[in-house]
Amino acid sequence: MLSPQFLVIEGLDGSGGTTQVARLADWLRSDRGVEVLCTNEPSNGPVGRFVRRSLNPASSEGRLGDGVLPYLFAADRRDHLDRVVLPALERPNSWVLSDRYYHSSLAYQSLSIGLPAVAQLNAPFRAPDLTVMIDLEPEVCLERIAQRGGVRERFEALDRLRTIRDAYEDVIEHCRTRGETIHRVSGDGDIEAVADRIRDVVSRWMEDRP
Ligand SMILES: Nc1ncnc2c1ncn2[C@@H]1O[C@H](COP(=O)(O)OP(=O)(O)OP(=O)(O)O)[C@@H](O)[C@H]1O
Ligand SMILES: [Mg+2]
Repeated sequence: MLSPQFLVIEGLDGSGGTTQVARLADWLRSDRGVEVLCTNEPSNGPVGRFVRRSLNPASSEGRLGDGVLPYLFAADRRDHLDRVVLPALERPNSWVLSDRYYHSSLAYQSLSIGLPAVAQLNAPFRAPDLTVMIDLEPEVCLERIAQRGGVRERFEALDRLRTIRDAYEDVIEHCRTRGETIHRVSGDGDIEAVADRIRDVVSRWMEDRP
């Protein structure tokens, strides 16, 4: 029986993270016989719901200052870990697959308070066992977001996405230095092609596990 593992999928807005979390979970369940709990950040808990509302430009909550968000995301992460992630990892053969985790905070909020400050805020949180980073050009991300429709959050303008992509580079380096396993996968091509690449990465990673 496989010991519980905590996996995270990361990437720019529109890079396909949510789509690929579902694909990977299907495969882990059907092909690998693993119980998978899919979850996401911001979480569906009380703090996460508040964060989502405040990211929506049409929100009646009013716009929060960029300096506030790092603390809210961290509070949501504490709640998410305690309520959802850590209890699931206590169960045998139970994996957790999260659509975004602290790497998103480190990238997005480093733009307002700097990477050292946001890294310090997130330092207490359990590291994932494996993070898959979906790499996709910001232009393609925006095309996909446009096709998806719906509400645009404040993070999605092209310049902003380019800046965040650069921030993710620093985050990857920072997290790898701390001993994290982060594999990068191209998000180009159709959904099945990307899913294939991710399954490949996860398969190889599983083979290398002791
Ligand atoms: N490989 C792909 N090729 C074409 N379209 C895709 C691909 N992957 C996802 N999409 C579509 O692009 C849109 C964005 O995908 P998705 O919602 O999974 O991205 P995301 O990274 O979760 O975005 P966000 O960070 O904003 O939540 C969706 O409409 C999805 O169906
Ligand atoms: Mg998503």
